[in-house]
Amino acid sequence: MEIFREIKSLKAFLRKKKLAQIQIGFVPTMGALHEGHLSLIEASRKHGLFTVCSIFVNPAQFNNASDLANYPRTETTDIDLLTRAGCDVLFSPSAQEIYPQKAGLRFTFPGLDTVMEGAFRPGHFSGVGLVVSKLFNIVEPDHAFFGQKDWQQFTIIRQLVHDLNFNLTLHAVPTMREENGLAMSSRNQRLSAEEKIKALVLYQTLKLAEAELLNGKTMHEIFPKLKALAENDSSVKIEYLTLANRHTLESVNTLTQKNQLVLCIAGFVGEVRLIDNILI
Ligand code: PAF
Repeated sequence: MEIFREIKSLKAFLRKKKLAQIQIGFVPTMGALHEGHLSLIEASRKHGLFTVCSIFVNPAQFNNASDLANYPRTETTDIDLLTRAGCDVLFSPSAQEIYPQKAGLRFTFPGLDTVMEGAFRPGHFSGVGLVVSKLFNIVEPDHAFFGQKDWQQFTIIRQLVHDLNFNLTLHAVPTMREENGLAMSSRNQRLSAEEKIKALVLYQTLKLAEAELLNGKTMHEIFPKLKALAENDSSVKIEYLTLANRHTLESVNTLTQKNQLVLCIAGFVGEVRLIDNILI
């Protein structure tokens, strides 16, 4: 696997691939890689694409300094995992390389960025929009792969690609889960063994909510009950449990539209903030 830290040398390398008509698949990440990320690399490879992965912990998308400082950074292991997964190129730039000067551009995604994550992490999706635009301009991929676990992020990037005419195809790859159902996440590395078991409550809450909704209950009816149940353990704090249209992210109260909805949850387990969702 070739490793690049500078935009200029990466672009020169990729230009040769493009001239040779080689199609590029791109997997942007913030590192601390797990099987979920590797499934994105695998999806790109399965499409027969020359696969570029980026690792960049993007300061612009963190609205909390300690969250940024505590974000796991495991580059040596990541390089090993990517090499074994058959990734062709790693782009791992410094913050100075991506932001040589403070960026002035701000993104808004009306209707999409003020709900759920947007309500709890102001500015987060502007930072995501900024860095993903930069990375798309640097790599110029034909295909880009994102995890379904960040469904709201995927919806916003779809809007970004549409609005800015990025010439690429987006793919959402299903969430990888531990055997017990816990969604794989880089943030899981910050959980103790005991917290890892407690963190399962997010997925369990999603499944309980799904069963209640299928029985005709409304979100207004079930939310207080399920929140209280999850928070029975004092180290768990649920921020939201939202049923929404999976394209517009408009919240809905009942299972009216089949195969059009997403049920999303976010919460803290100890100090670690986790998200999860299921498509319904
Ligand atoms: O999902 C992530 O890891 C990040 O938000 C992304 C898309 C790499 C942008 O920094």
